[in-house]
Amino acid sequence: MKNDLLEHYGGAVPRYTSYPTAPHFHDGVNAGTYTDWLGGLDQGTTLSLYLHVPFCQHMCWYCGCHTKITARYDPIQRYARSLVGEIELVAAALGARRRVSHIHWGGGTPTTLAAADFTTLMARLGTHFDTLADSEIAIEVDPRTLDPEMVSALAKSGVNRVSLGIQDFDPGVQRAINRIQPLAETETRVGWLRDAGITNISFDLMYGLPAQTVHSVRGTVDLAVGMQPNRLSVFGYAHVPWMKSHQRMIDTAALGDANARMDQAAAIAERLEEHGYQQIGLDHFARADDDLSLSLKAGTLRRNFQGYTTDFAPTLIGLGASAIGNLPAGYAQNDPAIGRYEAEISAGRLATVRGIATTDEDRLRRQIIESLMCSLQADLAAIGAEHKWAGQRFGPERLRLQDMAAHGIVELNDGHILITEAGRPFVRAVAAVFDTYIQSGAGTHSRAV
Ligand SMILES: C[S@@+](CC[C@H](N)C(=O)[O-])C[C@H]1O[C@@H](n2cnc3c(N)ncnc32)[C@H](O)[C@@H]1O
Ligand code: SF4
Repeated sequence: MKNDLLEHYGGAVPRYTSYPTAPHFHDGVNAGTYTDWLGGLDQGTTLSLYLHVPFCQHMCWYCGCHTKITARYDPIQRYARSLVGEIELVAAALGARRRVSHIHWGGGTPTTLAAADFTTLMARLGTHFDTLADSEIAIEVDPRTLDPEMVSALAKSGVNRVSLGIQDFDPGVQRAINRIQPLAETETRVGWLRDAGITNISFDLMYGLPAQTVHSVRGTVDLAVGMQPNRLSVFGYAHVPWMKSHQRMIDTAALGDANARMDQAAAIAERLEEHGYQQIGLDHFARADDDLSLSLKAGTLRRNFQGYTTDFAPTLIGLGASAIGNLPAGYAQNDPAIGRYEAEISAGRLATVRGIATTDEDRLRRQIIESLMCSLQADLAAIGAEHKWAGQRFGPERLRLQDMAAHGIVELNDGHILITEAGRPFVRAVAAVFDTYIQSGAGTHSRAV
């Protein structure tokens, strides 16, 4: 049965951190479009900010993130100045001070910024935006390169959530991915963060990496849980060497097949549940008292480019090379090339190079996809009514869902779709039923499992 499901639904599908997804963005959306969209936002709207820092000190061979390895600081300092410039340009296009409920620093490794530059950037955000008192201010951290000065800068700037890259604690796996990260080092960094008052700690783990086994991933879970993180993200390794050439360093003979990946994912989920963590959607786990668990229960869980989130802001502003903004009118992405991004900003222009204006139908389908990805269910009639949708009744989609129901991965009840526990690994495939763009074939995605 497992092989049958993998064969039917284990193919390449997007992760649906947006809809329409990034391969469908086009250059018809440019800096002019984005400036108009920013200027057209409601005065009272609350914003969420994402800042991308595309630098790391060492290359992990599995890495799928938008980053660049640099041993010198001057490129990072130049980039930090461009971020300041972009903050000024965006603030000018917005035309008025706005409230901010979430700030997320991602990468790459944002803590490659010098503590002083990070502090300056946070202060500059404070000059242009009113950060709400209970805002979440989160940052992605590589424990191997975190130092006490940065920990202190994070705490003083109000950072209240940190996610640490771990992946796997097995020394053999660490060698196979070029990421040597002793347990004691990570334990020390977690201690520093907690001592500084940053107590919301998330870990990133991975499965499907070379040399991983069910036994090794269970061992990693036990060691990770020993540090009592509030949340964990568990990502299946996306092997896309045609997009990320350094992944060719990975020994493909040491990679498990789809069955092995599914077994590893199941072993991690089972072990985390034994340790009291609740599975959230596709790839997150949280303690029962964590905001993610509470928002899943309250039906307010959302999905954005960072994965699952409690972020309720209707508008996300992306800052930095490759960053994507999500506005009511559509998505806008900055130039991923660091040099071109910096050149545009220093010339006083926003660096938008592509995006997509969203239609009413896109927004309807996005809500269905987000509901499936977050709560593993969707009520087509209720969502349709919310969007005053008078269009088609999802005939072709219903046919494909019936096939999925016959395989036991969904249960259908008069327009209500419920993804079963057996179907959880295939949630992306169920969401893809509602993706009208995927039919066009643009974009190459990693496998669903
Ligand atoms: C920006 S990194 C986290 C912060 C920091 N750079 C680090 O690695 O410690 C985001 C996370 O994406 C995940 N990741 C990176 N490459 C991936 C890939 N090819 N497939 C799946 N997940 C990946 C890893 O779990 C990684 O921790
Ligand atoms: S996984 Fe993190 S530290 Fe490693 S190269 Fe990617 S972004 Fe950098």
